[in-house]
Amino acid sequence: MLAVGLMIAAGFGGWAVGHATRETTAPTPSSSSSATFDPHVASGAHIFVQFACSQCHGEQGRGGVSPDVPALTTIAKELKPAKLRSIIDHGLGASKDPTKPYMPVWGEVISAQQVSDLIAYLRAGLPAVPTADPVPIPQGQGAAVAGAALYVRFGCINCHGPNGLGGVPNPQSPDKTIPPLSGAGFRTEFNTKQVIDFIRSGSVLGRAPIVSMPHWGGIIPDTQLVELAAYIKTLK
Ligand code: HEC
Ligand code: HEC
Repeated sequence: MLAVGLMIAAGFGGWAVGHATRETTAPTPSSSSSATFDPHVASGAHIFVQFACSQCHGEQGRGGVSPDVPALTTIAKELKPAKLRSIIDHGLGASKDPTKPYMPVWGEVISAQQVSDLIAYLRAGLPAVPTADPVPIPQGQGAAVAGAALYVRFGCINCHGPNGLGGVPNPQSPDKTIPPLSGAGFRTEFNTKQVIDFIRSGSVLGRAPIVSMPHWGGIIPDTQLVELAAYIKTLK
């Protein structure tokens, strides 16, 4: 929406430059409060929330979620764009230790343009961008309803697909795709306790560019792990 507004504004601005010699002020897009952001920075802020970067690194990368996950506020401006791209595409840290979170491999999951937008956002100092907020978790409607929102908030949906249908490519992995979290095969293999254990400790399939299951222990509280498992159980 914002990007479209800015594109229209930019297009109109270009027209104005060509056709009106005195009028130098570009027309104001309707959402003037967010119009001060470069569209790539604004897009990057949304991607930072969509891929749950903010769930591990904290809101606007301010940290405070887990002692094992660094804040990004200072480092993001110090690291060169090429280094940031390499960290995001290939991950970082000791993925072999199932008790600690590591930086997941995103190269196959996030498009090159989305990574560029993330870098623009990081280099801009992770500013607050209106409406780039994690989905709210419904209260009092049962574990499965909360779990459905958590599935989006923690970005599970990006790797396992809507409704856990799977199909997201993972070309270098043995299965060539990230597995579904639905279907008879999945349900016979994993009971509720095994689902919870798997989310907590993740699973390392291999080095980048292979995408592995992140370790969410220490990031997702136990009550929310139970809610996620309750939601996954409803998937047919
Ligand atoms: C599951 C938790 C998790 C998620 C999700 C996550 N990260 Fe990380 N990230 C980490 C951990 C842990 C490290 C530290 C790795 C190390 O140095 O051992 C890290 C390191 C980094 C670093 C390097 C920081 C430094 O101090 O060198 C950057 C940059 C980064 N992450 C960006 C991102 C971005 C952008 C996203 C979203 C696309 C993201 N992270 C998602 C856990 C996560
Ligand atoms: C960066 C991509 C990625 C994200 C994000 C992700 N997963 Fe996974 N997940 C995987 C991969 C890859 C596997 C396969 C691991 C294996 O086969 O050992 C997997 C496996 C699983 C499994 C076991 C299923 C099976 O058949 O092996 C469960 C359960 C699971 N994930 C739940 C979740 C939940 C819940 C979330 C959100 C909190 C989540 N995942 C986020 C990539 C991801």
